[in-house]
Amino acid sequence: MQLESDLAEIVEGTTRLLVPKGALVEKVPPMEPAFFNPRAKINRDFSIIAYAAFLKTFKGPKVFLDSLAGIGARSVRVANELNSVEKVFINDVNPKALEIAENIAKLNNVTNCVFSENEACRFLSLHSKRDQRGAIVDIDPFGSPSKYIDCGIRAAFHGGLLSVTATDLTVLHGLFPAACKRKYYGVPVRVEYGDEIALRLILGCINIVAGRLDVKIVPLFVQNNMHYYKAYVKVLVKTSDKDEMGYILHCKNCGNRHVTSEVKYECEVCNLKAELAGPLWIGNLYNKDFVNEMIIEEKQFQVDKSCKKILERCIDETDMPPTYFTIDELAHMKHSAPISLAKTIEKIQGAGFRASATSLNPAAFKTDARVDEVLSII
Ligand SMILES: C[S@@+](CC[C@H](N)C(=O)[O-])C[C@H]1O[C@@H](n2cnc3c(N)ncnc32)[C@H](O)[C@@H]1O
Ligand SMILES: [Zn+2]
Repeated sequence: MQLESDLAEIVEGTTRLLVPKGALVEKVPPMEPAFFNPRAKINRDFSIIAYAAFLKTFKGPKVFLDSLAGIGARSVRVANELNSVEKVFINDVNPKALEIAENIAKLNNVTNCVFSENEACRFLSLHSKRDQRGAIVDIDPFGSPSKYIDCGIRAAFHGGLLSVTATDLTVLHGLFPAACKRKYYGVPVRVEYGDEIALRLILGCINIVAGRLDVKIVPLFVQNNMHYYKAYVKVLVKTSDKDEMGYILHCKNCGNRHVTSEVKYECEVCNLKAELAGPLWIGNLYNKDFVNEMIIEEKQFQVDKSCKKILERCIDETDMPPTYFTIDELAHMKHSAPISLAKTIEKIQGAGFRASATSLNPAAFKTDARVDEVLSII
């Protein structure tokens, strides 16, 4: 029995949460009695908005499967804040976390939650059969999600949504390339736009696993803040007719970056040897209609103000090519002070290229211009 004096009440969105007191004061949230990170609130806020947008058009039973639920902060918020959700399954291996989750559900008077203490893959396997699957399946582990992706895909309805979090930043950002290859099938390069590479490696891994299961994925939205990376993909039980895996060639000599479907190392701008990230997802990161729905839905929730700003930046970049330039990186290359983002975008567009801000970095932009063209324009 969890002592009430060990817990503190906070509010996220419109949901009252009981959280371990240590989680509110310690820099690294403690594992005991259960893990809760208050700084992951934005990550959960985005989930609420994305799930609301998704459920608007989802036709089957509106069931949410939270496979690594912790104290149920995300899942009880789903049960409490999304009226259209019919049933929420809250699972974790930690019985103390589940006890807190049950108390949180009671505190919010939600009655559509079912609790279970299972290993995540076992939980998801129990839901991998007709009429038991989830409209939305969430995977939110410590570190890498790669070992849960097979079971997550199998537990999602045809047309359902899989949301996957990764927090193993050192691996995804290139400190341990061998571990990255093992977990995500691809390797990163250490570049300014490393967060985009990380998200593309996560999507690449989901896509490879999905391909094995004769499933097609459609990325709807990706997001990162602090060490949280989250991808939202639609799961369709059909084979993909398009190969959206490839590489990003990056030349550290001249700053050129180039998307390619083949392994090649020569930089087309300066002809020197470049580095190669991948194999990774080179298709779209966002679905424009879905992001538009998220912008509409955001208004009805009590979420962090930054969500709206990030979504609005995201809309402009939905059909832009992979990778981005930071204004600091360009200033460094030009040996001059950085010029404003708005001015940079305006100049590049004025020269006849496409350019947009990016939701992944407030001081960066995407463009179809090459690095040498960008440098000569600015
Ligand atoms: C990052 S926390 C989840 C946080 C939660 N989703 C939230 O939004 O607050 C990861 C959780 O996974 C649980 N866990 C770790 N390994 C597990 C496994 N193999 N099966 C099920 N739960 C597991 C831990 O007990 C912990 O509560
Ligand atoms: Zn080069």
